[in-house]
Amino acid sequence: MSRKEDSSLISLKGISRIFKSGAINGAVDIEILKNVDFEIYKGESIAVVGASGTGKSTLLHIVGTLDRPNQGELFFEKQNLFALSQEKLASFRNSKIGFVFQFHHLLQGFSAIENVMVPGMISSISRKKIVMDSEAILERVGLKHRIHHRAEDLSGGEQQRVALARALVMKPDILLADEPTGNLDKQNSSQVHHLLVELNRELGMTLMVVTHNSELAALMDKRVTIQDCKIVGVTS
Ligand SMILES: Nc1ncnc2c1ncn2[C@@H]1O[C@H](COP(=O)(O)OP(=O)(O)O)[C@@H](O)[C@H]1O
Ligand SMILES: [Mg+2]
Repeated sequence: MSRKEDSSLISLKGISRIFKSGAINGAVDIEILKNVDFEIYKGESIAVVGASGTGKSTLLHIVGTLDRPNQGELFFEKQNLFALSQEKLASFRNSKIGFVFQFHHLLQGFSAIENVMVPGMISSISRKKIVMDSEAILERVGLKHRIHHRAEDLSGGEQQRVALARALVMKPDILLADEPTGNLDKQNSSQVHHLLVELNRELGMTLMVVTHNSELAALMDKRVTIQDCKIVGVTS
């Protein structure tokens, strides 16, 4: 077993997620995840691949505590996350988990660095440190020359790299990315893919990424899919 397999960062225990559908003539339950047990180990990179509508985003949202399961528990190290108050959970999420989505969700009218400073501003970190950390991570994603540009004046690839910098500025233990390059051309996608891999190695940051992109999936340590409402490994 490699060193990465030694310690679990996040454990899913008996996670089930059911959605209601067809509310007009009585709601029907759709089971998306059923009694899922899964371990995410410190420092590893995981691609979640597979057909649309199977529950990949649902899984990522639960791991990121953005959605709650109908049943089951989620542990971060030994901490039972859904037992925390809403306030404690929000603060945990802000400091420990980074998110990147298909669309960058940057604040328009604000500069790259102002966008990256947001997670620090809602924590108790000093402004001086927030500025230093934001500059450093923007430089790391190759945007030193763009830090004072407004979000809407950046290219698509640059906007997604600002979103990545914002997700990483708090040095999260895990980065969760949902189709992070689904909206980018091949060249920009490739740049973001390689950045993700480098940052996973450099920062020892665990990475879980939902993707349809075979280049990105191939770069991860592990590939899993959701089949019959469970997480299973895929070979190839
Ligand atoms: N909030 C919701 N309410 C009802 N159904 C939902 C909700 N979120 C997701 N679903 C349904 O659950 C299934 C899985 O969705 P999702 O996790 O987004 O799939 P994927 O990311 O693999 O494409 C889909 O059939 C979707 O329509
Ligand atoms: Mg999805």
